[in-house]
Amino acid sequence: MVEKVYGVGVGPGDRELLTLKALKVLKKVEKIFVPVSREGKPSLAYEVVKDIVEGKSIEELLFPMIRDKERLKVYYQRAFERVKNTEGEVAVITLGDPTLYSTFSYLWKLLKENNIPVEIVNGIPSPVACAGRLNIPLVEGGEKLVILPRGEDLEKYLEVFDTIVVMKTKRLGEILRRVLRGRSDNYLVGIVSKGFWEDENIQLGRIEEIDFEDVNHYLSLAIIKRIKR
Ligand SMILES: C[S@@+](CC[C@H](N)C(=O)[O-])C[C@H]1O[C@@H](n2cnc3c(N)ncnc32)[C@H](O)[C@@H]1O
Repeated sequence: MVEKVYGVGVGPGDRELLTLKALKVLKKVEKIFVPVSREGKPSLAYEVVKDIVEGKSIEELLFPMIRDKERLKVYYQRAFERVKNTEGEVAVITLGDPTLYSTFSYLWKLLKENNIPVEIVNGIPSPVACAGRLNIPLVEGGEKLVILPRGEDLEKYLEVFDTIVVMKTKRLGEILRRVLRGRSDNYLVGIVSKGFWEDENIQLGRIEEIDFEDVNHYLSLAIIKRIKR
């Protein structure tokens, strides 16, 4: 049975943003588990670390992107059994940070329920990394921040928060245009698509200045900032 599981965040995509601790753990574990959303589809988290984990034992865990909770449970359980039945210490890697909307969360819950020791090795989460890429502060002073997966309730929260992060959607253009139409003068929009990857796309401006053509895919996020006057 597994002795300990490290949930390791590998950051947003730039290998140099991997922490020293992540590096140390990845080098010492017996096996590294890599989440994939489809069989045969390369794992982005693995892409970040593949050069530095060369020669290590790697195993994929399938977490399909489906909404059906009952079907998903079968995949979580299968992944859990495979991790549990591995000898020694292992790592499960995840893009960004394991505590932020991570596939690791599901496995983490099952490991804890079964009293298997887990240690989290934090990685740089995409919202803060992308604010850096845009060269803007995410929040400062007494400003308030909210993260909205799929942009849910965006209109409601625009009035309440100074900075809004919209992530986990392929439809940034549609969501942001619908809500920010007519409010263009009051908000600055930052878009980071595939941040830190070779084909990254970074834009900052008013909503009508943003070209959403190449950013409507899953590895994109938006940072919306209220303009102070
Ligand atoms: C399932 S969440 C995982 C978040 C991750 N655990 C983190 O800490 O960043 C996936 C979402 O993170 C955002 N994301 C992750 N990496 C990104 C990157 N390099 N550039 C832009 N957005 C990114 C996208 O909004 C994507 O839909």
